[in-house]
This record gives sequence, structure tokens and C-alpha cells, in this order.
Amino acid sequence: REIGVGTAHSKIILMGEHAVVYDYPAIALPFPAVKVKTTARHSNRDYIELDCQYFVGDISMAPSILLNIVKAIELTLETFELGQPSLSIKIISDIPQERGMGSSAAVSVSVVRAIADLFKVELSDYQLQFIVNQAEVIAHQSTSGIDTLMTSSAQPIIYRKSLAPHHFELNIPAYLIVADSGQAGQTRSAVQHVAELRKRKPLFVDNSMKTIGQFVHQAYQMIAQKNVIELGRLMTYNHYYLNQLGVSNTHIDKIVNAAWMAGALGAKLTGSGRGGCLIALAESKQKARKIARAMREAGAVQTWYLNLES
Ligand code: MEV
Repeated sequence: REIGVGTAHSKIILMGEHAVVYDYPAIALPFPAVKVKTTARHSNRDYIELDCQYFVGDISMAPSILLNIVKAIELTLETFELGQPSLSIKIISDIPQERGMGSSAAVSVSVVRAIADLFKVELSDYQLQFIVNQAEVIAHQSTSGIDTLMTSSAQPIIYRKSLAPHHFELNIPAYLIVADSGQAGQTRSAVQHVAELRKRKPLFVDNSMKTIGQFVHQAYQMIAQKNVIELGRLMTYNHYYLNQLGVSNTHIDKIVNAAWMAGALGAKLTGSGRGGCLIALAESKQKARKIARAMREAGAVQTWYLNLES
């Protein structure tokens, strides 16, 4: 039987979340430790059957991702003029939802790829980005597009909304610890919070965004120079600014503090915040283990490692 297969991975924002919505740069990395796979087959029913097996995290979040998936299917069928076929689509995802890992974008990327594969149509990067970003608007309302780009690409990027994404090689002698705070953080409400704060305190928010943009620019240079100590410091500065923008919380700050106390070169929230995931930088695997343990003791429910030396 014919079968279409599509995959995508999770993503981590190293620096620049939120500011990226306002056209400042952000650096993002692929995070292949958690992934999603979708299969699509023709079926003899007269509707599209959707079988979703994903790591839900918080069950109350499930409907928004479903709307996202339905939109992605609809737009794919429309783009390639495939009519209204009977399909059986099965999604299996181990990306935790609402954790700033790009789960909704990754699921849509894999669904679009699976349908394109089943019908053997050539899917350009532009078409993929366009469809998934439209679907993302359903879940997140306003989006910079960084999640879509990063969940469908294998190489780190430095990204600005108004410019073409620039892929680069990340090869520094360090480990990144990714920790799940265990709290759901809704991108939509965090992005909305910043937008509302900006209405009330435009100068403060604009200056913060500008400074975060400068940190990201410097971080990119530090990566090129393999200066992990300075990179860690910039990550920590970035966290302070995110905290001031009101997208951290006491639970996240406690875990960030634990990482610093355990010897992290830098630590911050990643993604939209107000829950979700955190990252910390360590100069060795041994240090990374110690930091990860401290982060779990402070309340993180799961930790992963990413070796940044390729
Ligand atoms: C979400 O992963 C990152 C945010 O900057 C939102 C976006 O860029 O769309 C918070």
C-alpha cells in the first residue's frame, strides 16, 4: 500500500525569543532529541481520518494544536489542487507541547511533508514555510516564523523576520542542557503579554528588545570565536531582560538560579516562557550532568543534553 511519510524535529531558541517578533535577530538550533513522524495513506472512507498520538503535556492545550493540523492539511490540499481525498493520517510525536520546543510547527511540518510525499508532489521550502506559518497563526496568532523554519531545517540559523535566514555551523566546546519546567507556557498569551506591555511602556519594551538584539549579535560573534564563557554570560543577560519583560516566573527563575549555582556558564528560559523549557550552557559533559541534576532538584521534570561540538 502506498504511504507518505513526513518527519520534523523540535527546536531550541538559543537567544532572542520575543525580540524576534519585533524584527530583531534570534539564534535557533535544531533539537533532534524529540521528533514527530506522520504517515499518510489513501483510505476508502469518505473523510480524512486523523490519528494523533502526541505527548500532550497539558490536555487542555490539545484543541489549539488540532486546529493547527486541520489548517495545515486544508492548505496543503489547496496548494497542490488535490481536491478532497479520503486519507488516513497518523501523527506520532514525542515533542512535549507548550514547552517552547516548536511542537505545533513541527507537527504541521511533518503533516505537510507526509501528504506531499503520498501524492508525490514537489514541496518547495517556500511552500512549506508558507503553509505552516498560516497554520501557526491559528495556534499562536502572531508569529515570527522561527519555529517553522527551525523544525524543518537541520542546521542552526540566525534569523530576522525581514531578512532571509542565515544558516551557520555551530561548533563550540560546550554542552547545552535543555530542561522542561513541567509547566505549560502558551506562546500566544506570552506574545500577547509583551504586546500589551509595549502599549503601556513603549520606550522600556523597545529599548529592551534593542538590547536583546545586540546580545544576540554579540553571541553570534562569540560562537564564531568559540568563546563559550562570553556566550554563557550573554545568555544570562538575555534571561534578565526576558524576566523584566514579564515572561519568566518564579518556578523558571528558581531553576535558572539552580543552574547558575551548579556552575553553568549561562542559563535562561527558551521559547515563549511563562513555563516551558530552559537552557543552560556547560563546558563539559561532566559539568552538564551536575547542572542537569541541580535543575531537576529545583523542579525541572526532564532534562536532555546537546553536544555543541560537531
Ligand atoms: C516561540 O518559540 C518564540 C517567540 O519568539 C514567538 C515567535 O517567535 O513566534 C516567543
